[in-house]
Amino acid sequence: MKLLLVICIVHAIFIPCFSFDVSGMDLPLTLDYYKSTCPTVFDVIRKEMECIVKEDPRNAAIIIRLHFHDCFVQGCDGSVLLDETESLKGEKKASPNINSLKGYKIIDRIKNIIESECPGVVSCADLLTISARDATILVGGPYWDVPVGRKDSKTASYALATTNLPTPDEGLISIIAKFYYQGLSVEDMVALIVGAHTIGMAQCRNFRSRIYGDFRVTTALNPVSATYLARLQEICPESSGEGDRNVTAMDNVTPNLFDNSIYHTLLRGEGLLSSDQAMYTSMFGIQTRRIVSKYAENPVAFFEQFSKSMVKMGNILNSKSLVDGEVRRNCRFVNT
Ligand code: HEM
Repeated sequence: MKLLLVICIVHAIFIPCFSFDVSGMDLPLTLDYYKSTCPTVFDVIRKEMECIVKEDPRNAAIIIRLHFHDCFVQGCDGSVLLDETESLKGEKKASPNINSLKGYKIIDRIKNIIESECPGVVSCADLLTISARDATILVGGPYWDVPVGRKDSKTASYALATTNLPTPDEGLISIIAKFYYQGLSVEDMVALIVGAHTIGMAQCRNFRSRIYGDFRVTTALNPVSATYLARLQEICPESSGEGDRNVTAMDNVTPNLFDNSIYHTLLRGEGLLSSDQAMYTSMFGIQTRRIVSKYAENPVAFFEQFSKSMVKMGNILNSKSLVDGEVRRNCRFVNT
């Protein structure tokens, strides 16, 4: 397995590597899993997400990110939603999540409504996966069918939340490895990481090293980019600790619209996060660079791949939870 991973990563740097196609596999998830037990589940979630995104379009970004942080840790099993208790160390305080990941209350709100319609039927993991799809559509992104039937975990992993989720300063090779480990190809990776960052905000502490580092180099000292950089530096002072929590959009052109403009941002060398810009400028990014250019040119190809890759990410399952998992009544706590 380890050898295969290494071969794949080396391969991915130089030539297109295969992707893991889960569509033909015998997954336990189906589109009509709730057909008889909770036939309104998709409508209820959609209606609620409409209100939530109307209240604040950023909520769409918040939910999509929450789904990603769930799936990369033990699979999509709602583990990220568990609160810390005496007997359970949750994921919420792990470094990629603490003071950053949001949306727990949004999920509580939807879960309460679902529980009143169909008590004890719909898992928190499914609810989050469906909400992420609806969030995408509501800010202009593509539609895809969501296979359902996930179970909620009875455990969480602080350790895996710390190691499996890449940081914004992580190198491209390491990010590729983390996606391969989850069964996601380089094509999936470029569609998901950069694509999702077409909406939402980042805090100064996550892009400081970038704007006081190689931003000038990647933008080739272009005067228009220099004006943008000055604005970013106003939002985010150089000294650590100052303005750490100040936020700005990752897509400064259409921050609330799900479109392909962030790929153009990378072509200009203006990516806000180092990890995003690396997809276009890293010396190991021959394949990723080609994919970034393709999605900049072809928004339809981007939408198609994003949909496929979101299904694939949503299909990262926790095999243990499928056997001994549950449908939590409250997404924050294991059932007693
Ligand atoms: C290399 C992989 C990734 C890294 C390093 C990364 C890093 C980050 C960082 C640092 C932020 C800003 C958080 C903050 O400042 O509080 C962020 C926001 C966000 N990320 Fe990622 N991310 C990655 C992949 C993904 C993926 C795969 C998705 C979804 C498919 C995603 C969706 C989002 C969204 C929607 C936001 C905006 C959230 C908001 O507005 O609150 N990210 N990401």
